[in-house]
Amino acid sequence: MNRVIIFDTTLRDGEQAPGFSMNTMEKLEMARQLARLNVDVIEAGFPISSEEDFEATREVARQVGTLENAPIICGLSRVGLGDIDRCWEAVRHARRARIHTFVATSDIHLKYKLRKSRAEVMKAAVEAVRHARGYCEDVEFSPEDASRSDFDYMCDVLSAVIDAGAGTINIPDTVGYAIPAEWAERIARIQEKVPGSDRVVLSVHCHNDLGQAVANSLTAIVHGARQVECTINGIGERAGNASLEEIVMALRTRKDFFGMETRVRSEEIFKTSRLLSHITGIHVQPNKAVVGENAFAHEAGIHQDGVLKEKLTYEIMRPEDIGRPSNKLVLGKHSGRHALAARLKDLGFDLAGGDLDRAFRAFKDLADRKKEVYDEDLIAIVTDEATQTEAVYQLDYLHVISGTGVIPSATVRLRKEGQVFQDSGVGDGPVDAVLAAIDAITGLKGRLQDYALRAATGGKDAIGEVGVKVDFDGTVVSGRGASTDVIEASARAYLSALNRLVQPAGRRVRDVGP
Ligand code: KIV
Ligand code: ZN
Repeated sequence: MNRVIIFDTTLRDGEQAPGFSMNTMEKLEMARQLARLNVDVIEAGFPISSEEDFEATREVARQVGTLENAPIICGLSRVGLGDIDRCWEAVRHARRARIHTFVATSDIHLKYKLRKSRAEVMKAAVEAVRHARGYCEDVEFSPEDASRSDFDYMCDVLSAVIDAGAGTINIPDTVGYAIPAEWAERIARIQEKVPGSDRVVLSVHCHNDLGQAVANSLTAIVHGARQVECTINGIGERAGNASLEEIVMALRTRKDFFGMETRVRSEEIFKTSRLLSHITGIHVQPNKAVVGENAFAHEAGIHQDGVLKEKLTYEIMRPEDIGRPSNKLVLGKHSGRHALAARLKDLGFDLAGGDLDRAFRAFKDLADRKKEVYDEDLIAIVTDEATQTEAVYQLDYLHVISGTGVIPSATVRLRKEGQVFQDSGVGDGPVDAVLAAIDAITGLKGRLQDYALRAATGGKDAIGEVGVKVDFDGTVVSGRGASTDVIEASARAYLSALNRLVQPAGRRVRDVGP
């Protein structure tokens, strides 16, 4: 088989990293886009970990897993039988559902975390796989911390779970410890040593602590793995997981070397990456491979000269291969609804009815403030509309006084359930003053852990996109806002974080972890 199964865990491993949490609506929006991207498997969540994770996984199974040609919807579960029941309860609505169960096999984890013997872990793994098979045919098993597990013991566990009915065996480098040559050998030896490994799909799940996640995933493919677990923009625990876009584009660009294919529609990559950044409020670094701002920018004179003469001189992928918009001027103040709909369709957003009405209103509002509206602006407003949670607090009015030699002050009016609340604040800058005024109204004090501002396009009149991470008394939530006025964008970003906190569905209590 020369096809690699792309198992996307953005909504599970990616989402569990601090600042990347998504509510049900956001997960659904992301899952729909992952389906358009045509990944093979979406790991939608870890249902036992919280009520909200359960609900989000179930909704992805119900609303995305039932579409025609939908990806497999997978849920993660520890080996406890109750965990597996809960996982099945969430994923069973999908046309094709998978239970992914895991337990650590390294002595470090057995001794300090699980406090169990090797025999006990082996028994629990086999029972879990059997129990899961009672629910569905598609069961995946992972020996957590595989890269630091005793090789022979791990192989014994793998062979026992294959006998018990696991159809996919996933080998995780949980702590990002592996080095490509050593990892390649481990992957190759598993296939020699584990009876039955030729009957199952061998998968890898690599973390990026030493920056080797993509290299380890690719080398595993060369040595027989046929599924890779990865995330959009490489998000995930600590330094993240292997990045989907890098793996897919490496396999595509170097097909001469790998001889492998995926089913991913690469033209959807850029949009998927931007949607995730928009939802989480966290942008990728400019030099990020494939999706970074500079990934296709040729600055050095000698490079520009070469590219102008022949693109092949310095360009190994084309921006259009990943669906990157050309950033040309597209629409202006007088453009109509049809022109907007047609341009959005070209960009991959097929909007109609109420969705198009909302996008058109947002576009008109933008065009009033900004003479030239670019593709990137349209993507920013459409994704903003699509991912807004129902706001408890809405910005009604904002007035800021700031300047040199002036103490910055702000007056803010918010709307909540039809009522209007107003207060003011001062700060060491206009953003600080606005956030102080919001805190005075809500009575909730947020500590800004992270604040990022970026222009959606070039030009002095560009939309400013603000992403924030706010700590409200120990609960960290992220938010984002967009406006041509960066102070307003900041207020909107802070309010979007606040709204996630105060909405019951946006609250998450994570009491267990893998
Ligand atoms: O990193 C890891 O080991 C995991 C497993 C649950 C697959 O995320
Ligand atoms: Zn992981």
